[in-house]
Amino acid sequence: MRFGVCYYPEHWPPERWTTDARLMRESGITIVRIAEFAWSLMEPEEGTYNWTWLDNAITTLANEGLQVMLGTPTATPPAWLTRTHPDILRVDKSTIQRNHGSRRHYCPNSPTYRLYSRRIVTAMAERYGQDKRITVWQIDNEFGGGRTARCYCSDCAQAFRLWLQQRYQTIDNLNDSWGNIFWSQIYQDWSQIEPPSDDIDKKNPSHELDYFRFASDSMVAYQQEQFDIIRQLAPNRRITTNLMGLYLDLDQFDLATPLDYVTWDNYPTGNPDRWRQLMYPPGRDTSANPPIYSYDVGDPMIQGMAHALTYGLKNAPFGIMEQQCGHINWGDVNPGIRPEIIRLWVWQAVAEGAEELLFFRWRATLFAHEQYHSGLLGHDARPQAGFAAFQTLQAEYDQLAQIVAQPVTADVALIFNYDDLWALQLQPHRRDFHYLRHLFLYYEALRQDGTSVTIVSPDADLSPFKLVIAPSAHLATAELSQKFQTYVETGGTLVFGVRSGFKTDSNLVTDTPLPGHLHHLVGATVTHWQTLPNGIEWPLAESTTNQDTLHMSGSASYWVEHLDPTSATSLLQYQSGETAITVNEVGQGHVYYVGFYPTPDQAHHLITHWLDTLNAPYIGTLPPGIFYYKRGPYHLFLNFTDNEHTILLPEAKMTVPPRDILITKE
Ligand code: GAL
Repeated sequence: MRFGVCYYPEHWPPERWTTDARLMRESGITIVRIAEFAWSLMEPEEGTYNWTWLDNAITTLANEGLQVMLGTPTATPPAWLTRTHPDILRVDKSTIQRNHGSRRHYCPNSPTYRLYSRRIVTAMAERYGQDKRITVWQIDNEFGGGRTARCYCSDCAQAFRLWLQQRYQTIDNLNDSWGNIFWSQIYQDWSQIEPPSDDIDKKNPSHELDYFRFASDSMVAYQQEQFDIIRQLAPNRRITTNLMGLYLDLDQFDLATPLDYVTWDNYPTGNPDRWRQLMYPPGRDTSANPPIYSYDVGDPMIQGMAHALTYGLKNAPFGIMEQQCGHINWGDVNPGIRPEIIRLWVWQAVAEGAEELLFFRWRATLFAHEQYHSGLLGHDARPQAGFAAFQTLQAEYDQLAQIVAQPVTADVALIFNYDDLWALQLQPHRRDFHYLRHLFLYYEALRQDGTSVTIVSPDADLSPFKLVIAPSAHLATAELSQKFQTYVETGGTLVFGVRSGFKTDSNLVTDTPLPGHLHHLVGATVTHWQTLPNGIEWPLAESTTNQDTLHMSGSASYWVEHLDPTSATSLLQYQSGETAITVNEVGQGHVYYVGFYPTPDQAHHLITHWLDTLNAPYIGTLPPGIFYYKRGPYHLFLNFTDNEHTILLPEAKMTVPPRDILITKE
């Protein structure tokens, strides 16, 4: 476990740097990230480099034995560049071009920008690539942050056409794949195709989905360009970037692929209410009232899911590049944070698989956009809540290190597929249907049972998992189906939920019986599907077969499908007689299809049923606000509430104080 901090030496007089570096070392910091926004200082005018300040900063930090992480400054193209080459500025979906004055205002497909970006990255890597004091490189900063994942400029239009040509080869193929016969959208030539910006009223969802993919691929390619330069000039250094947890606009699996390890920026009080609106089950109060968690904690269920996804990006331990360590400045409400909460955030990150954590930021800034953002030190350099939390964490460092040394294991995987997410965002069919919400339903149910879960891409190796849940495997290709089949045939249990197998890869509806390419795995046909207005429910039948070990009753609501089993067994029916849930034996494994959108209780019931069937260990229902993790022989209970909680286990009774953690060892 190593702790670090984000530091901006350029914000402080050089005379202060020595004191800062000493204090960092004394407090337990071992790595310091610098320079990721300092382009205008490194290259104050085109082709003129000023490294003196950076040399001095690195030396000052290294003199205290601190390792340095260097960030490339490409998130902040300087004014001389944007003024000489305004074509590098990105264009929003509204077709308005962004101006200079913030960050991430560049287009990743601008050939001009790519040239300047290559130059500054090369200059940096030539100067510092062999420097042993620099152990990690961070590429850019938060790709897509500030709604910048998708640019709609003319360079992008051109790059999009090439991307489409590679994907579809012929214009006829593209027309067929997008269904362009509809509303006379047939293209005769690639040059007629434009980005689907907001000056089009109703957009073709195939066109838009491909644009989302293209924009994501563009950022991945841009990252790769920097990666290649750094890898060549800074051999044997670790290369990463800082991702954004449950970020939806770029395929983070693709971004993660080339990197040596991934990190993300963890700001739990960054608008948890808005996340709740997106993630909480239909009908649940999203205003955190009545409150489960302490007021300054954010939403640890949502944080946990972000950690689980970040772990799953490479199926490997990860880092927290920026850990909130006090109040932030950009939420709707920015409460002060108590030290014990910051400590809990760190413990949760570690429990979920973080092995490196940098606090953002060392000292609160006196100027510009983030004046109201806290740091470990305040504006006046006095230690703040985060500093106190860090000192507590230092005191328990050995225990943290012991946990980090244990493997992260999970019996259950949730499939996260950006294509499915985007397709359903484009056509939710009911406004509040959200792919992430559907995943969260199962994630939360698993966490309530204290079961660890990894969130993986459909391309991941599924063999380590006893249970794989794909709540809406919407765009199901023959290849994906084959992959699922291999997993199940060798003993895996796979669960599909509503809206699975509905679409082709280019976002057309399949004309084979639903669930399309998954039909033979499911062994049942979805004969009918619909979404129900709030308050309308379809009663479930009492169990009638002795194969029904589900013992579910109640009603289906929200989204309902009818199943007609072919080879599958009907596990649960609606009172109207049609099948609601099936299970199909495939090789040595099983495929379930859940034909309605479960309530949280129903999802929890299903999860418990599957875990029992698979003999997968779980702890039982935990009190709300208590999180349980198992790492090797260690049991960790985290209490994110203001109340003491007692947990009754078969052989023990545990009491976890409010806002605290209890660790026991087998
Ligand atoms: C992050 C960003 C940092 C800083 C921080 C403030 O998103 O990477 O540079 O702006 O937010 O909370």
